[in-house]
Amino acid sequence: MKHVIDPLDLSVEEIDNLLNLADDIAANPKKYAKVCEGKKLATLFYEPSTRTRLSFEAAMLNMGGSVLGFSSADSSSASKGESVADTIRVVSGYADICAMRHPKEGAPMRAARYSRIPVINAGDGGHQHPTQTLTDLMTIRRKKHTLGGLTIGLCGDLKFGRTVHSLIKSLARYDGVRFILISPEELRVPDYILEEVIKAKNIPYQEVVDLEEVIGELDILYMTRVQKERFFNEEDYVRLKDSYILTEAKMKKAKPDMAVLHPLPRVNEIALEVDDDPRAAYFEQAQNGVYVRMALMMTLLGVEVC
Ligand code: CP
Repeated sequence: MKHVIDPLDLSVEEIDNLLNLADDIAANPKKYAKVCEGKKLATLFYEPSTRTRLSFEAAMLNMGGSVLGFSSADSSSASKGESVADTIRVVSGYADICAMRHPKEGAPMRAARYSRIPVINAGDGGHQHPTQTLTDLMTIRRKKHTLGGLTIGLCGDLKFGRTVHSLIKSLARYDGVRFILISPEELRVPDYILEEVIKAKNIPYQEVVDLEEVIGELDILYMTRVQKERFFNEEDYVRLKDSYILTEAKMKKAKPDMAVLHPLPRVNEIALEVDDDPRAAYFEQAQNGVYVRMALMMTLLGVEVC
């Protein structure tokens, strides 16, 4: 039994296989309509979500399986003080696989220790979000036909943005990748990512504050929201929340084939006018989330097309 808690729980070869399977699912959805008949997914969401929870649920329903779960800590017995360890012990008897989102970093890892079913980390605090990374990798690969040799700009809240941390860890395994880290001083990538991933692998990188200064160099621009829920004080959030707003005027300075990704939800950081730019890939990215989660659950459950 395998859990997916960190993006590095999947090897490069496993990721290739998952992305190939996700591409086939996208092209031939009917082929997969019954592969999970009789299987149950539990979605244990202690923190709000639209895309991750609903795409996990859509993924299981698309494969003929069923879904049970809760969408907030308040509507579960966590509100009465039940531990994650006890919850997963119980849910292991109700479902075949589980996706867990939790505001505390490490909670899905703790759950995995006590679980009798595969646990997938659906986002833990400001830490990691491995299935968002699969979504991002699928989108990048479909746009660029490769995951290597790209200059990736990550822009916004690089400190608390768990999708950024997971994406850097994953892309760092591909040859020729270069990172341009665009953020205010206060929201720079955490040291453990900079030291243990980027510097440890001698990956070329730059840290800059100004997006317009570097936008012309990018193959991928990965925009992120300033993570209001992770701030200790409202004043800092208000000061930093509109640090970056991608507009069509800024897009004019970008390569004609640059792709704009965003894990969503968006607040102000991408102006609505950019949605009509053919380089805007974020809604396609959200759709890809269903295919990669179908591929991941099929793989973890060991089910195949007959
Ligand atoms: N990208 C993402 O994790 O979105 P949700 O918070 O809506 O799940």
